Order: sequence, then structure tokens, then C-alpha cells
Amino acid sequence: MTQKKLSYGEYLQLEQLLDSQGLKSVENQTPVHDEMLFIIIHQTYELWFKQILHEMDSVLTMFKGNYVQEENLGTVVSRFDRIIEIQKVLVNQITILETMTPMDFLEFRDLLTPSSGFQSTQFRLIENKLGMHVDERIQYGKQRYNTFLENEESAKVLKSEEDPSLFELLEKWLERTPFLQMEEFDFWSSYQKSVETMIKGDIEQIKSNTQFDEDTLQNSLKQYESIQRTYDALFDESKYIKLQSEGHRRLSQKATLGALFIQLYRDEPILQLPHRLLTQLINIDQLFTSWRNRHRLLVFRMIGVKIGTGGSTGHAYLKKTAEKHSVFRDIANLSTYIIPRSLLPELPKKIKHQLGFHFTYGK
Ligand code: HEM
Repeated sequence: MTQKKLSYGEYLQLEQLLDSQGLKSVENQTPVHDEMLFIIIHQTYELWFKQILHEMDSVLTMFKGNYVQEENLGTVVSRFDRIIEIQKVLVNQITILETMTPMDFLEFRDLLTPSSGFQSTQFRLIENKLGMHVDERIQYGKQRYNTFLENEESAKVLKSEEDPSLFELLEKWLERTPFLQMEEFDFWSSYQKSVETMIKGDIEQIKSNTQFDEDTLQNSLKQYESIQRTYDALFDESKYIKLQSEGHRRLSQKATLGALFIQLYRDEPILQLPHRLLTQLINIDQLFTSWRNRHRLLVFRMIGVKIGTGGSTGHAYLKKTAEKHSVFRDIANLSTYIIPRSLLPELPKKIKHQLGFHFTYGK
């Protein structure tokens, strides 16, 4: 018996896929042209969310298995690269929906109620797997966000709250960073001296800036007092814990120091990939913030300050999520602690050697 050759359409299950645009306006016998775009764009987002979850799950498995060694780091970084490229598409394709006018949207908007993007299970899974903390979520109608989902979907999302997130696994990985306690080289006290030199230099510059009036001068100096306090907390466990309990920091002190070491010595061969990974986490976080901002601007131009079909305050709610819903802000904030290369404590030869690549072929 000859087997039927696999066709393009069968492989991609196009019949099912292309038959999945059930326009409510058509069902209602008042067809609205733009509803097709509205459905297709949401479906496209969901497909890309699926791909992001696919990449994230594989990275989480590698982190969980504790085998994020140099061999796997390259794979992690390339999966993150893929997520980042998808995110750029997610941000950019909002412009396609902006070709629909608010009046055209109004033609079918009521038919969607009470459904809303707020019920996107995959979006919630991405947030939770990244490490969004339920206590940090902006409250929505005084109800837990998962109560707006169907039972099965809600269970999935709740499970993802319990599973170790990328944030938690990354924190553990950073805490294991070698070279933090190095015999013969007290890195942190050398670094502290360099920081003090840098801060002194910055303060001198502020004081000698003739453009500043008295108020600006005093405010800038105050700002530096607070920067100085956060530097002090970096090396003082009880002060650091206080910052954490006040919600100013999430990442542990040990992980922060590990990440800082990576960022400072990024040029050393062994630290180049970890540095790329930390940069990618900042990118991923900030691209979601960009998406949230683009989406809220879209919402503003479509419905102004009306409430959402899901019942939230609409634009006001979305604006708050764009400001608050970020996961890796502590990594971006490491820039506060970065010192110029010229002030970087020189690493002892032995450590520099350990941080280099070694030719092991054939041993
Ligand atoms: C005309 C276009 C759109 C309008 C007017 C709109 C409106 C809204 C509003 C008002 C909310 C807040 C919840 C509510 O009260 O319903 C929301 C949430 C959301 N929307 Fe949209 N949206 C649009 C397009 C999209 C698209 C294309 C996506 C892509 C997946 C999307 C995904 C989401 C998500 C994930 C949320 C939850 C955000 C969060 O809670 O942080 N929306 N949308």
C-alpha cells in the first residue's frame, strides 16, 4: 500500500487553524470587517506566547537540573535571544491593530464582553515563570487575577506560582558564582575603596558645577547620600535585609554580589556568557514593559478612559502594571554599582588565569 504523501496543509493543520476565526459579528448577522483582524492578531499573539513558553520551559529545566554549566550556557543564551526577537515582534505588531479606528472597534466591542486579554492564561504563565510575585501584582477588581480564568486554566496558573521561577533559579545560580570568596584576594574591600573614590569624584563634580542653583545642589547631594546608603547595604547583611523588607530589593545580597562581579569583570572570557545572560534578562524584562506600555497606549486611543471589557479601570490599571510589573529590575539597577574600568581592582594572576579559556583538546 502506498502511503499518502504528507502535504503542507496537513502538516500545519491549516484546515483547523484557518477555520478558527469565528467572528461574533457574523454570528450576530451584522458582519464587521475589522473583527477578522482583531481575532487574528490575538491568535498570533497566543501562538508567539506558546513559543516563548516552549523556550522558557527548556531553560527552566536546565536551571532546575542544576546543569547550567558553560556547556549549556550557550544554549540558554540562544533561547533567550529567540525570546527577545519574538518580543520585538510582539511590540511592533501593535501598529497593525492601530490601523483599526476606535469607531470601527465600537462596531463589535460589546459582543466581546466580558472576555478580555486579562484572561490570557499563557500571558499569566509567562509572567509567573519569569518570577512575577502574586503579592506584587496590581489588584484587579479586588479579586485574585486567576479567579477570572476557567477552572482548569486557573489551576495551571496557580501551579506555575508554586514552581520555581526563572528569578528564583537564577538567584540560586548567582549565589553559587565562584570567585566570590577568593583566598589571597579580598576583592570586595578593594572594590569598596574604588567605589568610595568614584563617589568622592562624583560629589566633587556636583559641588563644582556652577550651573546648579542651591536647591539643585542640595538635592543632588541628598541623592548621593542615598546612593551611598545602598552601597553600604551591599556589604552589610542587616542593612541589605532592611532594604529587602522595605521592598527596595528582591534579589538576595549574595546573588547581587555574584551578579555584580560578573558585570564588573565581563571582559574575562569565562564571564562573557554570564554577562550576556544578565543583559538578556534586562532586555526581556524591559521588552515586556515596552509591550505593556504600547498596549496601554493602544487601549487609550481605542477606548480612552472607559472601563475594559474585562471590567478593570482599563488604561489606569494598565499604566500601573507597566510601572510595577517587572521582575529583573535589581539586575538593571546594578548599574548604580558599576565603576569605571580604570578603577576596577586588578585581579591576581591566578584568578585571571582561572577566568580564562584553557585549551583542553586532546588534554
Ligand atoms: C483594541 C484593542 C485592545 C483593547 C481595547 C484592549 C483592552 C484591554 C483592557 C482594557 C485591558 C484591562 C483588562 C480589562 O478590563 O479588560 C486589557 C488587558 C490585557 N490585554 Fe488587551 N486590549 C486590546 C488588544 C490586545 C491585544 C492585541 C492583546 C494581545 C494578546 C492584548 C492582551 C492583553 C493582556 C495580556 C491583558 C492583561 C494585562 C495585564 O493584566 O497586565 N490586548 N486589554
